[in-house]
Amino acid sequence: MKIRTTPKLNKNLDRPHERGITTDKTPEGVTEYTLKNIPLPSYFTEKYARLQQFTPIQQKCLQAGLLEHKSLLACAPTASGKTLIATMAICNTLGTGKAIYLVPLKALGNDKLREYRRLLDGTDYSVTLSTGDMDSASLHLAKSDLLILTTEKLDSLLRHRLPWLAEIKTVIIDEIHLLNDASRGPTLEIILTLLKTLIKPQLIGLSATIGNPQELAQWLEADLVMDSWRPVELQKGIHCAGETVFY
Ligand SMILES: Nc1ncnc2c1ncn2[C@@H]1O[C@H](COP(=O)(O)OP(=O)(O)OP(=O)(O)O)[C@@H](O)[C@H]1O
Ligand SMILES: [Mg+2]
Repeated sequence: MKIRTTPKLNKNLDRPHERGITTDKTPEGVTEYTLKNIPLPSYFTEKYARLQQFTPIQQKCLQAGLLEHKSLLACAPTASGKTLIATMAICNTLGTGKAIYLVPLKALGNDKLREYRRLLDGTDYSVTLSTGDMDSASLHLAKSDLLILTTEKLDSLLRHRLPWLAEIKTVIIDEIHLLNDASRGPTLEIILTLLKTLIKPQLIGLSATIGNPQELAQWLEADLVMDSWRPVELQKGIHCAGETVFY
């Protein structure tokens, strides 16, 4: 799977209608999701009660079937709230099966572990981070509900054909554009192919930087959800001799 990570990205995201994707308005008759009406457990709604509303990409993913187990590829600018999309899919799955959060780097795994430990503290669900090769921790994984794994770890687990792999219901692929990465990409591509053919979980791909999102969504067998909203406006300018000129 070839991913383009060219500057074309922002052009595409800023003018999604040119790609035949309508992303700017909630279609008429579609319920706007809020923290009050969202069908997720109270540990989720209580934890995020401070949020006034969902960001545009979150709202669109909800309306595209995030909580109905649909596979989605969510493309939106940096800091647009893609992590919460993953969290909602995870909370929707816990109790019915296992969820996996695939992280591209070990360091990111520790952040996610802290974040999800805080969320699941006080619930019956457990979260485990595993980044090494096949080891004793793998027994622990069988009992965990949410697994935070590196691509290499999931690759190793899939090759050992462990019986509990069939319990995987949702897989989050953060920074999915890394399919293009010379060292990590091939392993990720094999993992996704194995998941699609053997286990068929809900796949949620998250990315800010893809030049050919429709092609990737098709390969992933996922619906494409795009939005161009960003919390801070991006301005272009030139800084020269102590002066900045925006254009
Ligand atoms: N609905 C919301 N309302 C207000 N703040 C939100 C909402 N959703 C997420 N945030 C906050 O926005 C910030 C950025 O979110 P997040 O890290 O998920 O961005 P991202 O889209 O994953 O960005 P990146 O592409 O850089 O990884 C976080 O601090 C998060 O808590
Ligand atoms: Mg992110």
